[in-house]
Amino acid sequence: MTTRFDIERARRETRGCEDRIHFNNAGASLPPIPVADALYDYLREEEEQGGYEVMARRAAELDNFYTAAARLLTCSADEIAFADSATRAWNAAFYAFDFQPGDRILASSAEYGSSLVALLHQAKRLGVEISWVPDDPSGQIDINSLESQLDKRVKLICLTQVPSGGGLVNPAAKVGKVAKAAGIPYLVDACQALGQMPVDVDQLCCDLLCGTGRKFLRGPRGTGLLYVRKTLLEQLEPNQLNHHAAPLLSANNYQLRSDAKRFECWERSYAAQLALGVAIDYALAWGLGSISERVSFLATTLRQKLAAIDGVTLADQGLEPCAIVTFSCAQMPVDQLQQQLALRQINTSSVPFSANPVSSEKLHHPALLRASLHYYNTVEEIECFVTELKLLL
Ligand SMILES: Cc1ncc(COP(=O)(O)O)c(C=O)c1O
Repeated sequence: MTTRFDIERARRETRGCEDRIHFNNAGASLPPIPVADALYDYLREEEEQGGYEVMARRAAELDNFYTAAARLLTCSADEIAFADSATRAWNAAFYAFDFQPGDRILASSAEYGSSLVALLHQAKRLGVEISWVPDDPSGQIDINSLESQLDKRVKLICLTQVPSGGGLVNPAAKVGKVAKAAGIPYLVDACQALGQMPVDVDQLCCDLLCGTGRKFLRGPRGTGLLYVRKTLLEQLEPNQLNHHAAPLLSANNYQLRSDAKRFECWERSYAAQLALGVAIDYALAWGLGSISERVSFLATTLRQKLAAIDGVTLADQGLEPCAIVTFSCAQMPVDQLQQQLALRQINTSSVPFSANPVSSEKLHHPALLRASLHYYNTVEEIECFVTELKLLL
């Protein structure tokens, strides 16, 4: 498997990996050269030629973001909206629902902190009920419990496919089958999944999906995307409109767009949009299946080595944990450990409470260090990381 993956090329095309070990890909990956240069070149052209002029001249390349995202998710380009973050994309979808008092929303314990705030906000404001679907013993959402919680009042099912702390990969397709059979809209947070593993909206049976650019997709910061299934699009009116989402027909009339761009604003970083399209193409050229195999191999190698260190306790959940490796250390507070590793040019992060607050509260884990790997990382880097860790503990 590793021989099929051209690691040398991946590293040659990643300037940032030359003088550091970057194990913070769940925070933000190092962008590859084609992505970084696309961003810099576009900004340079804006500086020299003017933003509107470059936008007009490079319209086809800007549009490539939509077709690339559609290929990534196996959907059509008019089901894609550009967003400046996954949070913005998730909120745009969520706040478009016309929830009524007494409606229920089923959510997983893996929901991201920002989504949790939005859920609590709507519960407080509208009197909707949030029901947390329990996990199975492995930590994945329990499909039987999900089914048993369904009733006529359930108006939305939310699932974070891969939470940002804990290695978990939720069975998003199984949840989708349940949602589809029950005819309930299904919103997937695929923020940490995009770029790390294949994500196909038909296979997931999801109606809405959000993602971010800067993590495993290796795109620029300040980028994200929203997928909205065509059949749901017509029923979902964004809770805020503007002249891009709903072009004016006259001084007192507008027409809501029929595509997913109804969830967008006109102004954005066009450089970042173009570069995100390049990042998606770049990921697709490596192949999401190959990427997923490569990162699983690296993460398994790291977990095996960590498990052999005294005082280190792995915290990952789920049946097949992904490239996000989390652990606690008995000998040193996690923040201190992260700082010490950073001094040695090793980037990691600690897992904040907001990563997956509902499950964190339930699991009572001590503070966790997160080492999140991508395909351009190597076994040599893992060995170096483990050696430095042992010296520190
Ligand atoms: C699972 C998950 N969902 C959503 C988000 C929010 O993404 P963004 O920062 O692009 O809004 C994150 C960010 O860490 C995340 O890990």
